[in-house]
Amino acid sequence: MSKLLIHGTRKLEGEVQIHGAKNSTLPLMAASLLCGGECVLHNCPALSDVDTAIKILRHLGCKVERSAGDVVINPISAGSYDIPDCLMREMRSSIIFLGAIISRLQRAVLSFPGGCELGPRPIDLHLASLRKMGVVINEDHGCLDCSVPEGLKGAVINLSFPSVGATENIIIAGCLAKGKTVINNAAREPEISDLSNFLNACGAKIHGAGNSTICVEGVARLTGCEHHVIPDRIAAATYMTAAAITGSTLLVSRVVPEHLAPILPVMEECGCGIDLYDNAIRVVAPARLNRIKSVRTMPYPGFPTDAQAPVMAMSTVADGTSIFVENIFESRYKHVGELLRLGANIKVEGRVAVVEGVKRLSGAAVEASDLRGGAALVVAGLAAQGTTEVYGLHHLDRGYECIEKNLARLGADIKRV
Ligand code: UD1
Repeated sequence: MSKLLIHGTRKLEGEVQIHGAKNSTLPLMAASLLCGGECVLHNCPALSDVDTAIKILRHLGCKVERSAGDVVINPISAGSYDIPDCLMREMRSSIIFLGAIISRLQRAVLSFPGGCELGPRPIDLHLASLRKMGVVINEDHGCLDCSVPEGLKGAVINLSFPSVGATENIIIAGCLAKGKTVINNAAREPEISDLSNFLNACGAKIHGAGNSTICVEGVARLTGCEHHVIPDRIAAATYMTAAAITGSTLLVSRVVPEHLAPILPVMEECGCGIDLYDNAIRVVAPARLNRIKSVRTMPYPGFPTDAQAPVMAMSTVADGTSIFVENIFESRYKHVGELLRLGANIKVEGRVAVVEGVKRLSGAAVEASDLRGGAALVVAGLAAQGTTEVYGLHHLDRGYECIEKNLARLGADIKRV
């Protein structure tokens, strides 16, 4: 079983370049199914979730080539409409393929993404929205059999929560539907804008991405296109917390600083200096971090739930008490038990976590139970005295490209064994 071995308390220095966003790449790959020609996606990260999305596309009959950061998808030969259960389970976000498959093949058969690491992950908003667009869905023994007897038709969809995945599924399904689809209370994450920029470059008519109301006018066909995936704002936030917890100065480059706007006030509250450049952010951390009064996770442009765990790791050694309120997922504090092993002082009560900053963490063996929780353990390990062993690396590999190599290059004592 592989693990990361970290000898903590080393300072980081230099520049880290951020890879393409996982949460953009996956819906872009799904959306490419709609296209009438080849799609070239540049800046795709080398992550196991991207490998899974490639397996799904190939299973559906697409030709997919990958070289370095480029993924070239030719969807012309797509003919299968099912996603095997093992691939649905490998990546819970494979539900994002539903709208694309049903649009392309008028039928889709897949299993429920299932309960999981962050608590229950219902897909009721995805299903109710697609039903409004004419999709007939039979749910049986964890299997979803979907068809669209009269073709997809535009609809007005009022989301009760701005779900990222549901917004993406509706946008994708709306592109080739008959008539106009309006999404009210849509998610506003940068990944939604990236998806709509890609689809518009292929000939779709999507207006309002990035706002709460998105309008998709159905068109007859889409072409292929070339597209650059936006940078991964959560990977960027993770490296910023790594710099902060080690008292370091770090240039985090190839980012869109605007996408990190919800994180920057928290870093500044901790006492970090922040210099903004066109496509980079320099973090200058103090010797001891200040506490964070409160972090409340919210849909974008609020504080992202995906950055909660790494920021909490950073706050474990801050001067004073920091409070976290997790509003997006029910069970997103699995990293807390492992941070306690490293000497942190954290109490959880329902959605609230109270972190009393300690002077220092001490190394221990810990296990990642989800992607961002795993990143939090790495961040904490960088500041812990002695040796930290991090297990459960398959979670980290879903979302961070070469994390140990990047950190080692910046001066951390970290290796995979
Ligand atoms: C996406 C991101 C994930 C991030 C999350 C929230 C991808 C691949 N993943 O996940 O990294 O943590 O956004 O920013 O982009 N919900 C329902 N019913 C539904 C759908 C969602 O109740 O049909 C609830 C969820 O249980 C959760 C909340 O809505 O409590 C947010 O989920 P959603 O925005 O859909 O997250 P994902 O798209 O799954």
